[in-house]
Amino acid sequence: MPVNLSPIDKAKFVAARRAVDFVESGMRLGLGTGSTAAWMVRCLAERIQEEGLKVVGVPTSIRTAELARQLGVPLMSLDEAKWLDLTIDGADEIDPDLNLIKGGGAALLQEKIVATASDQMIVIADVAKEMVQLGAFPLPVEIIPFGWQTTKALIEETLISMDVLNHDVTLRMNGEAPLVTDGANYILDLHLKRIGSPRQLSLVLNQIPGVVENGLFIDICDKVVIGHGDGRVRVRDINSGETMDERLDLEPADNIFADLDD
Ligand code: 5RP
Repeated sequence: MPVNLSPIDKAKFVAARRAVDFVESGMRLGLGTGSTAAWMVRCLAERIQEEGLKVVGVPTSIRTAELARQLGVPLMSLDEAKWLDLTIDGADEIDPDLNLIKGGGAALLQEKIVATASDQMIVIADVAKEMVQLGAFPLPVEIIPFGWQTTKALIEETLISMDVLNHDVTLRMNGEAPLVTDGANYILDLHLKRIGSPRQLSLVLNQIPGVVENGLFIDICDKVVIGHGDGRVRVRDINSGETMDERLDLEPADNIFADLDD
């Protein structure tokens, strides 16, 4: 592990490292997107180099594909793999039922397709991502650019009858221009503050023409690995109901991490 990491990066690192222990040779893996998922790709690359682990990854974004290639993680497309054994990805919020908000990194569409095409999804996160209820983090919704203002207005109208605390909707920008996703779409961020019924909201949003997908991941995540800055990790499995508390050694830097600053 690189030295001089902030406590939050240490928490992300230990969550990622612990999750990679669940990877077995021969697996086809979904590789998530974001800073925590980037740690996972590095830890995976380390196991490939040091143990000769044989895996192939399906990246959920151009960014993740670039990092994986740079580190020597073999890749294929989802169409080539068709079905995956395991996806490991980060999240913006996690509720007690392991429902998620994702898409802070604008990759929610590929992330949801890949996670849904996997036997198992493990979410890795620092402890700040655990919430009693979803909604403090703005909910990302991927929409097609054509008629985006009409889609925004339809979403705003829909939100009036939903169990949410706030109704503001903003177009995600990249400087002066709208942010464009890997799928050539736009992202609307729904500032809801509290989502009373995530399942209902997800269904209703996906009925609106122009909406491609929303960032609520309902009943998709099987296991979470939550990291703390002091090396503690908690693994929770929603299917078995088991929770395990462990502590990982925060080891000194080694080659695979030395030159990377993400
Ligand atoms: C990208 C995502 C990320 O997994 C999510 O935003 C968490 O990112 P990070 O690990 O950097 O906090 O959903 O679309």
